[in-house]
Amino acid sequence: MFDRHSIQLKLAGSTFLLLAFTVCSLIVLTNAQMETAFGDYIALHLAVMDHGPAETMFIHSVHQSLWWVGLFFILMGLIITSVLAAGITRPLRRLTKAAAAVERGHFNQRVPVGSRDEVGQLATVFNRMAAKLSQNEQAQRDFFASITHELRTPLAVLQGTLENMTTGVTEPTPERLFAMQEEVMRLNRLVTDLRDLSLAAVHELRLHLRLTDLGQLARQSAMLIQPLLDERAQQLQCQIPAHLTMLPLDADRMRQVIGNLLVNASRHSGDGSHICLTVNEQPDCIELCVANDGPCIPAEELPHIFEKFYQSQSAQGAADSQRGSGLGLALAQQYVAIHHGTISATSTPEDGTAFTVRLPKS
Ligand SMILES: Nc1ncnc2c1ncn2[C@@H]1O[C@H](COP(=O)(O)OP(=O)(O)OP(=O)(O)O)[C@@H](O)[C@H]1O
Ligand SMILES: [Mg+2]
Repeated sequence: MFDRHSIQLKLAGSTFLLLAFTVCSLIVLTNAQMETAFGDYIALHLAVMDHGPAETMFIHSVHQSLWWVGLFFILMGLIITSVLAAGITRPLRRLTKAAAAVERGHFNQRVPVGSRDEVGQLATVFNRMAAKLSQNEQAQRDFFASITHELRTPLAVLQGTLENMTTGVTEPTPERLFAMQEEVMRLNRLVTDLRDLSLAAVHELRLHLRLTDLGQLARQSAMLIQPLLDERAQQLQCQIPAHLTMLPLDADRMRQVIGNLLVNASRHSGDGSHICLTVNEQPDCIELCVANDGPCIPAEELPHIFEKFYQSQSAQGAADSQRGSGLGLALAQQYVAIHHGTISATSTPEDGTAFTVRLPKS
């Protein structure tokens, strides 16, 4: 029934042996001392050296009583140490069972926290770990569901259109072919983004760091976005100082971050809106801010916009040419994080929406 390696057996066994040894030693010592003291007493008061049958019987009965009392204490000790050891190891056994279930992939395991001692602390940490694993598993499942959805829909459209063209149901007009090419380009971008995201998540993304002027990158990104803004009669105002401290940056990745923020500002604000791109030098960092007016992000959506595949209801319903895949901000956050910086967003109906990237100087 007992595992000879179990802590319960070791604890109960060693405590019992210690107790048995102490009780036996005490009895032997007490017996010896009692016999000597009793001999001295008879010699002094009765002036006889040898014990008579009455004295021998007295000593014998005291010896026996002492051994019975000792045996009682040893048995009590055995019961108490077994109960105590079982009490200490019960939560550990529960933890082992729960950990084995987690190992088999059942992440909803939790163990009761019955104390605040080391075992209780271990149970608390275990519960936190199991909750985190369960959350990660859910996030991973959602992530794959989103990838499947994002890939399946355009692929089904492309397949249907190609089938219709090959069977002669629809004409392969330049417009249709152009729309198909756009869809393939979007898929290509999506796959590249997914690869970069997974590489960044495991810190495997290669960075080509060079001392770079963030202001220069911002100006280049502003120039590239201009045709898109012109199409929607949007105004871009740039406030970028001529001289900024150079930072060790991967220029391509940072251009991607600024580009996504500018495209977002254009895509998610209305025609004729105003967009502002500012770069500021602070004592400890360089701050880049992209702000736009237009409809703001509802407060309940704001904490989710950096999640992979998150898109607001209005963004999901956008026209195909305007539709993104909800990976831009997740990627931007990863890129900024691997440069040891931060990215944050604020959005109010009065001040519009603003995204701020802070890159540390050191
Ligand atoms: N400037 C903005 N104004 C209003 N909403 C925004 C703004 N920037 C982002 N959002 C909201 O955050 C969501 C996530 O943005 P993100 O850049 O990650 O994805 P996307 O632009 O929809 O697609 P992708 O960038 O992958 O092409 C957007 O769908 C939109 O709902
Ligand atoms: Mg985007």
